[in-house]
Amino acid sequence: MYSSKITGMGHYVPDNIVTNDDLSKIMDTSDEWIQERTGIKERRWIKEGSDDSTGTMGAKAARIAIERAGLTKDDIDFIIFATLSPDYFFPGNGVLIQDMLDMPTVGALDVRNQCSGFVYSLSVADQFIKTGMYKNVLVIGSEYHSGALDKTTRGRGLAVLFGDGAGAAVLSRSEDISKGILSTHLHSQGEHAEVLTVKAPSISHWVPAIIEGGAEDTSYHPFMDGQKVFKHAIVRFSEAITEGLEANKLTADDIDMFIPHQANLRITQFVQRRFNLSDDQVYSNIQKYGNTTAASIPIAMSEAWEEGKFKDGDLIVIAAFGSGFTWGSVVIRW
Ligand code: UT7
Repeated sequence: MYSSKITGMGHYVPDNIVTNDDLSKIMDTSDEWIQERTGIKERRWIKEGSDDSTGTMGAKAARIAIERAGLTKDDIDFIIFATLSPDYFFPGNGVLIQDMLDMPTVGALDVRNQCSGFVYSLSVADQFIKTGMYKNVLVIGSEYHSGALDKTTRGRGLAVLFGDGAGAAVLSRSEDISKGILSTHLHSQGEHAEVLTVKAPSISHWVPAIIEGGAEDTSYHPFMDGQKVFKHAIVRFSEAITEGLEANKLTADDIDMFIPHQANLRITQFVQRRFNLSDDQVYSNIQKYGNTTAASIPIAMSEAWEEGKFKDGDLIVIAAFGSGFTWGSVVIRW
């Protein structure tokens, strides 16, 4: 029997810092509104003309994670890439990473589960390792949101929330089954697919139709019914955490560190209160990066790790909720 352990983590964010005040110069919003509703102070947006992309940011994060795992690119058996902002319509970003990192012809899988993308990817990697199929799996979450946001007052409900960046983890086979990923739980509810969505370009609404629609056609910008997402998020986050804890015969008292998908500081604080966790038991960096979707958990984990917040034997709980709706949790014994 095998367990999968996270042996390396890395992250990369673009240099360009965009503050709430910067946004208030291009749309009708304010630092006060954004901080009060979301906790976000600033985010990173790729600067026009920069070489950064979903793929290159993912590659930068991946190189760090592989090195910190004490491995080389040639030791990686499989790539999993989570993003909702891929470089191409197809092929997916996994193969681009295989090329960018000059890796052998290993398999590459793209995961399209938005804010839950990293949780889903960890689960897939975990199954491959536990069954003995692969020894080292590279998991990446990367997003280039700023390219598709409507940066006018019309789009302010979403534009102020999202940031660019990437995080990566290497999962490796371990024979100590008391440590590593203890469980993963995944869920979806497609009846809410249109509550948080980018509808085009799609095969049924292809680029010429968008151009024909002119300024009225906003189908290629993200749409969100924020309050509906919020209400479901606080319920599903709590359910997923409870499900993960119960499956391992643990309780909230056993949690050393909770790393949520960074969607909104108010959602995180709600969950923190619900499980009676102290500030030291919850990791938040949404203040600096906004919501980086599939990248938010690996960026947060990589930073927490760098800050020495994970100790041997700690119980780390990860949870995410987002577009789909999809949600899930991962329970890790470090
Ligand atoms: O990661 C994926 C999952 N996503 C989430 O979990 C997001 C969940 N939802 C949320 O976090 C919150 O719903 C938001 C932060 C998105 C919005 O907060 P809210 O308290 O639900 O605000 P609202 O959408 O109800 O808007 C309140 C008001 C509206 O004006 P009126 O109709 O009351 O006059 C909006 O037009 O705030 C207005 N508004 C803004 N004002 C200034 C919306 N966006 C902005 C803005 N700046 N950026």
